[in-house]
Amino acid sequence: MAKHVIKSLVLSFGLAACGSPSTDTPVASSDAPAPQEAACADGAGSVNVYSARHYDSDRVIFDQFTCETGIKLNLLEADSDQLIQRLKSEAEFSPADVLITVDAGRLWRAVDADVFQPLETETLSSRVPDAFHDPEGKWWGITKRARVIVYRKADGPPEGLETYEDLADPAYSGQICMRSSTNIYNLSLMASIIERDGEAAAQEWAEDVVANFARPPQGNDTSILRAIAAGECGIGLANTYYIARFGASDDAATQQVYDEIGIIFPNQDTSGTHVNVSGIGLTKFAKNKDNAVALIEFLTRPDVQEAFSAGNNEYPINEAATTAEQVTTLGSFEEDDLHVSALGENQTLAVQVFDRAGWR
Ligand SMILES: [Fe+2]
Repeated sequence: MAKHVIKSLVLSFGLAACGSPSTDTPVASSDAPAPQEAACADGAGSVNVYSARHYDSDRVIFDQFTCETGIKLNLLEADSDQLIQRLKSEAEFSPADVLITVDAGRLWRAVDADVFQPLETETLSSRVPDAFHDPEGKWWGITKRARVIVYRKADGPPEGLETYEDLADPAYSGQICMRSSTNIYNLSLMASIIERDGEAAAQEWAEDVVANFARPPQGNDTSILRAIAAGECGIGLANTYYIARFGASDDAATQQVYDEIGIIFPNQDTSGTHVNVSGIGLTKFAKNKDNAVALIEFLTRPDVQEAFSAGNNEYPINEAATTAEQVTTLGSFEEDDLHVSALGENQTLAVQVFDRAGWR
C-alpha cells in the first residue's frame, strides 16, 4: 500500500492543476500539486497546498506569496471530500502541507478525519477572531460569507419576512425555492438553527419550509438567483459572494438578474445573520511546516486579506482589512456570533433533521 502511494505520487507530480470554473460545482482533480508561477522561487523551499477553492484570484495571491518569500507553492485543486479522503489514504506519505476548504461543515469533516494538526501562533490569534478558528488551531478562517434571503424585487419585499424562522410562515406558501438539503451551506445553516432553537423546533421549521416550496429542491445558489429573477420562485437563500459576483458582472443578462433581486439580511433583531468561513489548516504530516505556517500567516495579513476576499467577493476574516466595494454595497449587517465550530458539531443531526422533514 505504502509503496503504491509513493509510486503514484512520484509518477504524477508536476501535472497541471485543474481549471477555474468559478462556480461551486466540484472540479475533477489532477493527480498532484502543480507548481504555481515559479519565477520568484529562489531556493527557499516549497509548500504543497491542497485546495477546494477554484479561483484564479487565489492563484494570483499564491504567486504573490512566492515572490515575497521565495517559497515555491505547489497547488492541487479538487473537491473538498476528495481531498480529505486523499489526505486520509496518503497518511504520512502525503505531500500536502496545508488543506484549504470552504464551509465550517467541511472543515469539521477534515478535523473529524484527523488530517490536521493543531497550530497556534500569536500572529494568527491576533488576526483571526476566536469565533472563526478551530479551538485547537486545527484550522483558521481566511474569508467569511453570509447566507441571506433573496426575493424578487418586482413582487416587493415579502411582508414580515425578517428571519430564517419566518421562512416557515404559511404566508409564503408556494414561493420558496431551495437547493438540496445535502448541500453543505444548507447543512451548516440547519446546524446553526439546531444550536439556537433546539432539534425539535428545527425539525418543525424544516417541515414548514418544505410545505412552502415552489418546486422540489434543485440547482445551486446561482440557479436560484436566476429562478427568482425569472419569477419561477419568489424567495430563496444564497451566499453573498454569488450575489456580489452577479453585481460585478459585465454580462448584461447577469447584471439584469442582480437588478431584479432584493436582499434581506436575516435575524437582525435576534441572533444575527448566519455567517460561514473558508479556512486553512496545517496537515497532520506536513513536511514543510515552517513554510506552511508562513503561508497561513501571509493569508491573514490585512493587505493580503483585502485582495484574497475581494477576489471571490467575500468578507475578510481579519477585521483590520477593508471589505471590497462590490460586497459592502450589498448592505451592512449584524453577524450571528455563534462559534462556527458548532456548525460542524451539529452536521450529523442536521442531516437527520432534514431527512425526517422530507427536505430532499
Ligand atoms: Fe459556493
